[in-house]
Amino acid sequence: MADKKTFYITTPIYYPSGRLTIGNAYTTIAADVMARYKRSQGYDTFFLTGTDEHGLKIEQKAEKQGIKPQEFVDKMVVTYKKLWKSLDISYDKFIRTTDQEHVKGVQKIFEQLLKQGDIYLGEYTGWYSVEDEEYFTESQLAEVYKDDDGNVIGGKAPSGHDVQLVKEPSYFFKMSKYADRLYQYYQEHPDFILPHTREKEMVNNFIKPGLEDLSVTRTTVSWGIPVPSDPKHVVYVWIDALSNYITALGYGSDDDSLFKKYWPADIHLVGKEIVRFHTIYWPIMLMALGLPLPKHVIGHGWVLMKDGKMSKSKGNAVYPESIINRYGVDALRYYLMRALPFGSDGVFTPEDFVERVNYDLANDLGNLLNRTVSMINQYQDGLVKPVAQDQDDFGKDLMQTAQTVIANYKKEMDILHFTQAIEDIWKFINRANKYIDETTPWILNKEGKTAELARVMSNLAESLRIIALLIAPIMTRTPVEMYRQLGLDWHNDELKQLEFGACAWNTKVVADPKPIFPRVKPEEEIKYIKDEMARAKPKKQSRSEQGEDKEISISDFDKVKIQIGKILSVEPVQGSKKLLQFQLDFGNGDERQILSGIRQYYPNASELLGRKVLAVTNLKPRKMLGHLSQGMLLSSEKHGEVKLALVGDEHEIGAQLS
Ligand code: ME8
Ligand code: MG
Repeated sequence: MADKKTFYITTPIYYPSGRLTIGNAYTTIAADVMARYKRSQGYDTFFLTGTDEHGLKIEQKAEKQGIKPQEFVDKMVVTYKKLWKSLDISYDKFIRTTDQEHVKGVQKIFEQLLKQGDIYLGEYTGWYSVEDEEYFTESQLAEVYKDDDGNVIGGKAPSGHDVQLVKEPSYFFKMSKYADRLYQYYQEHPDFILPHTREKEMVNNFIKPGLEDLSVTRTTVSWGIPVPSDPKHVVYVWIDALSNYITALGYGSDDDSLFKKYWPADIHLVGKEIVRFHTIYWPIMLMALGLPLPKHVIGHGWVLMKDGKMSKSKGNAVYPESIINRYGVDALRYYLMRALPFGSDGVFTPEDFVERVNYDLANDLGNLLNRTVSMINQYQDGLVKPVAQDQDDFGKDLMQTAQTVIANYKKEMDILHFTQAIEDIWKFINRANKYIDETTPWILNKEGKTAELARVMSNLAESLRIIALLIAPIMTRTPVEMYRQLGLDWHNDELKQLEFGACAWNTKVVADPKPIFPRVKPEEEIKYIKDEMARAKPKKQSRSEQGEDKEISISDFDKVKIQIGKILSVEPVQGSKKLLQFQLDFGNGDERQILSGIRQYYPNASELLGRKVLAVTNLKPRKMLGHLSQGMLLSSEKHGEVKLALVGDEHEIGAQLS
């Protein structure tokens, strides 16, 4: 027997730096829909997702919680997997860039590229935004700050986040060497980048102006995969991250049977902001390794909020759990797949969501099922007869619609046009609803036209069976419940019976059908979602958001004990780029240890010895990276420059501010 056709689809591997939003869920659900659809079409399918766990941001997040990066990502991954489970994501593998297999694969790839001369040692200068996890050149910055001599000393990324200057030895990948071959590849494979508009962007913005060599290592980050031949360097994000698509299949390990079977990928599904990495850097890496390129990179649009892109770091997110817990998995899956037409952005609003739940799901689909099953109970004791051979004009038109919709559906699904596929399904749902109005079963019943009535009921039941099959890749629970109410057993290979009249019937529907999507009260639900959104905002806000000028009473101020302390010793905390550990004297034998995240601002920290500083001393002690901190040093911040609140020698050690 011939081998089954294979299908390999991937999502981006997400940074486990914060809770996943419905934006991340969008990509993963879309990939899941495609994987389910392809499986139903008989493809041997491999669906990969995972996490991109290295880098400075993760290092810093872990430090803030006083735990090791590994411990931090381990915890995050548990929550990610739990979410994917609750969204019925049917991935075949979850890759983590901290997996040993991946680490070894990346090291092997790096050393090979180095040996070939595609990677060379140079020096990197640039501006880094921790929040965006991205490096910028000066000209890419949205805002720059200069000193009196006109030197740039800081600035803001296009996102508005602060950037810091980094200058360090770095290995570079010779992208320029492959630019022509890449361009050629685009020409020969016009569907490599989809939608097509994104190919033009890549060519005009990056390839035509000339590809710059890419910095691929860092010495200032320790949480990463060490370069085996030069371990003070760690491999910096993109080689590490992109390689996941092949290391997950065992590339570079002893067992590469999955790689042989599934590579090249059929589809890398990604958000539009990382299309560049997937259509320039990744293909060039693969060319350098002598491997075939993925067949399609699809850059989808963004789920937007009224104030722009929804994102983990921005605090304007809707979290999937809020929606799932109240409206169910299928409402979210349906909404997201309908909301973003292929390649375009879509705005999430609570109003729109609630409307779709009420109109599309409760009214159109829910009512069709509920009315049909109820009528079959009422008029035929629950029995569904086989679909009749001879049909009147209404019946013929219904069947014709089914045929057209099925044909269109397959075409749309094959190219990930889920929005259109859903619209087609809903055309059929609405056609079936209209069929009830046209045939008026209650009159047929009154007039005792039992044969005609049976024909109508069978047509409706059969329509619902088809609808259940069509929505099955998109909604995971609803089709099973529809089948149950129709008195059928759900099998996962039912899509083979995707033809009007393919079911034998002569079975009974359930006696007590319940609405699958109860109607909701719009005002209440809009309020619920808005409250959830407000609740999800990060707790830590800037002073101005908290109401900078809000008045407090003396007793509020008295709660904070601020004392003068003298710095007895200061040293960096091992394994931390941020923390300094101070021993301070507060007089009367009160010596304490306080940690402060100011290491980068005091490269010569010993200059602080003997100085007096302001410290909050009645703060609850806490541990950071295993070290106890019994208080907080006060400092000021402006334009990203942090200075300790040092005081003159006239202040007595231990004296309290009031
Ligand atoms: O970029 N709308 O990870 P990430 C639609 N680790 N999709 C969205 C979205 C939104 N508002 N927000 C996020 C990374 N996404 C890298 C990827 S791949 C080798 C490395 C989705 O956690 C979308 O797929 O920032 C986007 O590309 C991805 O999440 C970014 O996830
Ligand atoms: Mg991101």
